[in-house]
Parts: sequence; C-alpha cells; structure tokens
Amino acid sequence: MGEMTLLLGQTLSVNGDPFAAGWEAVAQVESRGGVLIEDGLIRSVGPADELSAAHPEAELRDYGDGLILPGFIDAHAHFPQTAMIASWGKRLIDWLNTYTFPEEMRFADPAYAAEIAKRYFDLTAAHGTTTMVSFCTIHPASVEAFFAEAEARGQRVVAGKTCMDRNAPEGLRDTAQSAYDDSKALLETWHGRGRISYAITPRFSPTSTPEQLSAMGALWAEHPECLMQTHLSEQTDEIAWVKELFPTARDYLDTYEAHGLLGPGGLYGHAIHLEAREIDRLKEVDASLVHCPTSNTFIGSGLFDTMGLASWGLRVGLATDTGGGSSFSMLRTMAAAYEIAQLRGEALHPAHLIWLATGGSARALRMEDRIGRLMPGMEADLVVLDLASTPAIAQRAAEADDLWEALFPTIMMGDDRAVRAVWINGRAT
Ligand code: GUN
Ligand code: ZN
Repeated sequence: MGEMTLLLGQTLSVNGDPFAAGWEAVAQVESRGGVLIEDGLIRSVGPADELSAAHPEAELRDYGDGLILPGFIDAHAHFPQTAMIASWGKRLIDWLNTYTFPEEMRFADPAYAAEIAKRYFDLTAAHGTTTMVSFCTIHPASVEAFFAEAEARGQRVVAGKTCMDRNAPEGLRDTAQSAYDDSKALLETWHGRGRISYAITPRFSPTSTPEQLSAMGALWAEHPECLMQTHLSEQTDEIAWVKELFPTARDYLDTYEAHGLLGPGGLYGHAIHLEAREIDRLKEVDASLVHCPTSNTFIGSGLFDTMGLASWGLRVGLATDTGGGSSFSMLRTMAAAYEIAQLRGEALHPAHLIWLATGGSARALRMEDRIGRLMPGMEADLVVLDLASTPAIAQRAAEADDLWEALFPTIMMGDDRAVRAVWINGRAT
C-alpha cells in the first residue's frame, strides 16, 4: 500500500449525464467532504469525519470551505496558438491566414516548440485544467515537445500532428504520404505510453486533399483504439468553401465520412451549423462533439446547440479552443457556454456546466472510466476552487443559499485567481 493523502473541503462531482437524468439525480455534494488518494488514484470519497476516522494514517490537506472538483478537461485546444491568443479583428479563414499559420510556422524550430509547450502547461495548470486534447502543428517535433512536457508532469493528455497538404502556406504543408508516415511513427512511439494518447489529426477538410483524408482514414482503420480529432461546420463561409472543394459531398460531415473519418472516437470541434442528416449520422455512430464557446463568440462563428444535442444523447465535451478561444480558463469557458445557451433561450444549470467541463468532456474522449468524476478507482486529477477569490465574487457568494448559488458567481466571474490548488496524478502541482 502506498502513501495516502486525504483532501478535505466541500466536494462536488457530477457523476452522470445531467442532460439525460436531470441534474438532481447525478450531482454529488458534501458540504464537509473528503477525497482519499493513494498511488495516483482516488480511493474513496465521502463525509470528512468518516474518512478521517477510517484513515488516521493519511496525510491531511484541509482546504476549509474550498470546493474540491474533478480537474477540468479541455476537449479541444491548439497549444501552438498560445502566444497569439486574442488576435484582433478577423473571421475564421482570414484569422487562420493572418495570425495562425505564421505562428504555427515558428514550430519548425524544436526549441520554440518546447518553450511554448512548457508555457502552455504552466498556464493551463494555473487555471485548473488537468487533461487536454490538443492539436499540434505539422511538425513532428511539436508533438514530441507536447508529449515530453506532459510526461514530465504525469498528465493525461491527447494530441496529434496536425495534417494539411493544401490551402496552407509553403512550409506548413505535408503530403498525404508524409502525413501518414509521420502520424504513424508518432502514434507508435507515444500512444499508451503512461497517460499519453495519440489522436489522428487532419486539421479540417479545406486543408486536406481527398488523398490525405483517405490516408488519415486508413491510419484510423489500422488504429481504431485512437481518437481522431478535426473541425466541423464552424462558420458559414467555411461550409460554403467545403461545398466548393468537395462538390459531390452531401454535406460537410460527408467529406469526412467518405474518407473513413467518421466513427466512434471521432471528436468534431465546433459543429455549430449542422444539417439534420449530419446530426443523425453523428448520433448513429456515437461520435463526439466539442463545444468551444469563447472561440465561437470571439471569431463570430455562431451559437452551438448544447441543450438540444446533449439532451439527444450525443457525447458533448467543452473546450477553450486556445487560441481561437479567448481564454485558458475552463471557468470562463463554462460562462461562455452559459451565455450562448441564454442567447438560444435556454438556461444551463451550474451542474450542466460543471459536467461539460469534467465528466462530459471525459465521456466525449471515451475516458469516463478514468477521469472526470470523484469516484473510487478514478485517476486523482483534482482542482480546488476558492469561491470568494475576488471582492466582487465574494460579496455575491456571501448571499448564496446553497452550493450552486455560491458556485455560479465563480463560474461567471472567476479565473485563475479562483484556483487554490491543482492535483495531477495524485500530486499537488
Ligand atoms: N479550423 C481549422 N483550423 C482551425 C483553428 O486552428 N482554429 C479554429 N477555431 N478553427 C479551425
Ligand atoms: Zn480548433
């Protein structure tokens, strides 16, 4: 038996899908609770006094009225866009050409890739994010840098080499063959090593030839144990362009489906302007959608239908989409998801928002048996929030009658100042 640590505080875990069951049935709250950690895993969760009495030998970390939650899971990010987040004035295609591609070009230098990977993990940890799914750049060294940094920190991550062989500048294009070969080599080196997973990563249909999409589809067929991540129906101009580039496709999703890139384990970022056939097919194959709300308002993309798609049983994760998104904070991201739902006439409960950022994202990644909930046997990735981290938040939380009302101001107004502690793989960072 290893060393045991007992974290005490308020505890909150949404242990099932609140869009399916109703949040009251699945939210687990203890006003004075504890989480017992051993060998990097959660061993038990319950009332503080019971756990303290049963495990007097455990080292205590008492967070008082701090709120202990599962660590946040960012289901779609671009770590190479860290240094160009919040770039002004463009919509998607112009934004890619003006800001994104020039920045991604800099990752030809492995030293720069390593520097940004370190900066990205420092920033995300400070914001309470313990797992992320990231695009890298076309350069294999960018993937190496990302995974090496994650491995050093013991962090569960998913990432892959971004593949694109057209409609991108010279120096930022691979080929169908090199994308296949490089992705395969990286996958064989990294997938399943410690807490690292490889995701096959065609950027999106406009930047891949049909030959490259087929090569990615072939690789996925050889490695169905891997996730596949891409972008889908983010902006109307982009969708019109996809129709021009793939004149025989029924819709945007069909450009993936026709090349073996639709299936369970497919992670489709944005998925805003979906046609009925696309929604039906995504549901039929049990694919995952990833909502990127700060990005969708920042780049002006549109209003994702969280309530409709999640209530229909689709796997929906939540993500920052750094640096199309305008924040590293999953709190800010939950706030933006709330605001977008409001613009659609729906109010998401704080339990819905917490679920999207934890268990919902874990379910989107098909990792719900490992991360995203405070339950025995789950990996010990935790965040501890201060629900009174600024004067503005504190004075509002002081009026609260229950935990949800105390938590909501931190969701809406909180940032890295609200993150009191982060535990990754059973260790405080
Ligand atoms: N579509 C293709 N690439 C990107 C990207 O880097 N960010 C966003 N938001 N959308 C994309
Ligand atoms: Zn993206």
